[in-house]
Amino acid sequence: MDFLVGGLVVSVSLLSGVFGFQPEMDGLQYEQLTKPIQLTQELGASQGVNRKASNSWWSSSFVHASDDHDYLILAHAALPNPNTSSVLFRGSILDINDTTYYRQVSWIFNQSSGAAPVQEGPLKIDSKNYGFVSVDPARPLGAMRTWCVSESVEFNVTFALSTPVILNGGVGTFPFGNEETLEWSMPAGSTNGHLVRNGKSIDIDNARSLTWYDRQLMWPLAPMGGSAKASWTWFELHVEKRKMSVWIWDTFDHQRFQFATIRETPGIHQVVAVTGFTPSRREWTSPISKSTYPLDWDLSLADGTTLKISSVRDDQELCNPEGTLATYEGYVTVTGRRGKDPISGYGLVEIVPANMIKRQD
Ligand SMILES: *[C@@H]1O[C@H](CO)[C@@H](O)[C@H](O)[C@H]1NC(C)=O
Ligand SMILES: *[C@@H]1O[C@H](CO)[C@@H](O)[C@H](O)[C@H]1NC(C)=O
Ligand SMILES: *[C@@H]1O[C@H](CO)[C@@H](O)[C@H](O)[C@H]1NC(C)=O
Ligand SMILES: *[C@@H]1O[C@H](CO)[C@@H](O)[C@H](O)[C@H]1NC(C)=O
Repeated sequence: MDFLVGGLVVSVSLLSGVFGFQPEMDGLQYEQLTKPIQLTQELGASQGVNRKASNSWWSSSFVHASDDHDYLILAHAALPNPNTSSVLFRGSILDINDTTYYRQVSWIFNQSSGAAPVQEGPLKIDSKNYGFVSVDPARPLGAMRTWCVSESVEFNVTFALSTPVILNGGVGTFPFGNEETLEWSMPAGSTNGHLVRNGKSIDIDNARSLTWYDRQLMWPLAPMGGSAKASWTWFELHVEKRKMSVWIWDTFDHQRFQFATIRETPGIHQVVAVTGFTPSRREWTSPISKSTYPLDWDLSLADGTTLKISSVRDDQELCNPEGTLATYEGYVTVTGRRGKDPISGYGLVEIVPANMIKRQD
């Protein structure tokens, strides 16, 4: 008995040591670390709707809740083309301790199905059932809030941009197939709010929770041409002190591009080629979208880091009931080596499979 109790204590503290979700509270440090770099759009202005681009606001909250379970709460609002006023909203909740609990909802709204046109200016995607907003419209780099109220998924999450951003590609803008994209990520913001599990509201423990927020804009890159992207895999990884945003995409003319943007010290970006990317043969096929997703990956980077990444549950697919809009957004665990040292962590994989992208070029 003593032995068992002892064993349990050791394994629990080991686990929380590895997977504890630590928010970063040093502040955005915008004036010093980001403002001197000329961005495609100034950070604050980039928060609002950009009429000329495809717009995406996305958050993944890794939280510890008052029922003593860890959760991944995902929220995604997008305006694929602001001129057509259609709005995409998706959300999911995964219980990380008990991965049998997973719920998702994916909505596509347009004006005839009741979506209010989204206004230019401060971010305000705001309806009864879903939202993604700047809490104070006058402070676009202040707190943000996202909520979802549906039978299967219900949460209300508020997070602060409480740590310096990662400018993907080092300066935020990079070619992405035949488009140009601006992507910045705020990797470990302070998080509050609640979620509903089986009809019961549970609170988020601010001291053991964080949100990675990702703002992405995409413009057609007409003058430079290039082949459109045909599919992609993206990883958000929290590996000890390193925060990594890793892109791998294929184009319709069969080229593959792959690189990681790594932030270890706030304000210092390392852009590193991915030298190896091998999906496993462990796969899952969605009965709704018919998409097939790998569930493990071996990843190596030009700096010698090697990582083994695994999805903790087969079905972590956001998909509308018609199966026409599917994206895998799954909680993953990570082990690996950096030089001689073993490393470990957690994160998320996003996959947009080849059968979801129509050829446009
Ligand atoms: C939306 O319309 C404006 C004005 O006609 C145009 O400049 C812009 O490129 C359009 N946006 C997209 C994403 O097509
Ligand atoms: C859930 O996992 C977290 C992190 O490992 C741990 O701290 C917590 O005690 C676990 N909860 C239960 C009910 O086992
Ligand atoms: C608008 O939404 C409705 C209901 O989801 C759908 O039937 C219709 O095709 C959509 N219209 C456009 C222009 O996308
Ligand atoms: C979400 O929580 C905030 C802060 O408690 C509250 O002001 C807001 O009304 C809530 N939103 C919804 C949709 O419940």
